[in-house]
Amino acid sequence: MKFFIDTANLEQIREAQSLGVLDGVTTNPSLMAKEGISGDAAVKSHYVAICEIVEGDVSAEVISTDFDGMISEGRILADLHANIVVKVPATADGIRAIRWFTDNGIRTNCTLIFSAGQALLAAKAGASYVSPFVGRLDDISSDGLQLIEKIRVIYDNYDYGTEILAASVRHTMHIIECAEIGADIMTGPLSAIKGLLKHPLTDSGLAQFLADHAKAKG
Ligand code: G3P
Repeated sequence: MKFFIDTANLEQIREAQSLGVLDGVTTNPSLMAKEGISGDAAVKSHYVAICEIVEGDVSAEVISTDFDGMISEGRILADLHANIVVKVPATADGIRAIRWFTDNGIRTNCTLIFSAGQALLAAKAGASYVSPFVGRLDDISSDGLQLIEKIRVIYDNYDYGTEILAASVRHTMHIIECAEIGADIMTGPLSAIKGLLKHPLTDSGLAQFLADHAKAKG
């Protein structure tokens, strides 16, 4: 399973990259705003800065909601760097735009996926990735992981090339369960990635090894 980090924070991206396990980055307008990035020029240079840290795909989301706006915005974003993937919402205009981008060699990530039907349409339109939001479904007492399972079955039935990018991943168990189900990618916060390492027996075992080594050394 590929690991993406879901942030626009350069420091966190660098830290995840330094672990040697990072395959890409996802951003969204809320994450960009959280870093105080606003205005065309600042947004563009921030995406380029992210692309320069990570050797992997970087999702950059369009703000337009109409087909023409998505196309012109997406073309500009895709021109910024070879690793940019244009993130487009799962709406009718979004699906039309994904088809256009696919036909014109621009890779896409269909975002705000909350149903198997939306994921099916996105795959038919040729999306490179779909982003089902696991955590946000859990937030409303629905089952985010069950959606990942359904999409996995549908994509396998028809050999769709679209990759399942489990998004809105909030904690380590989400990551492990996505891996068990067979999500192609997960995107989550740095805390969830680093959380995978946490185990009290690792900590106590290491402390014991070091203590024994020090004792033997005299
Ligand atoms: O990038 C989209 C998604 O991962 C958002 O996550 O935690 O805001 O639901 P969250």
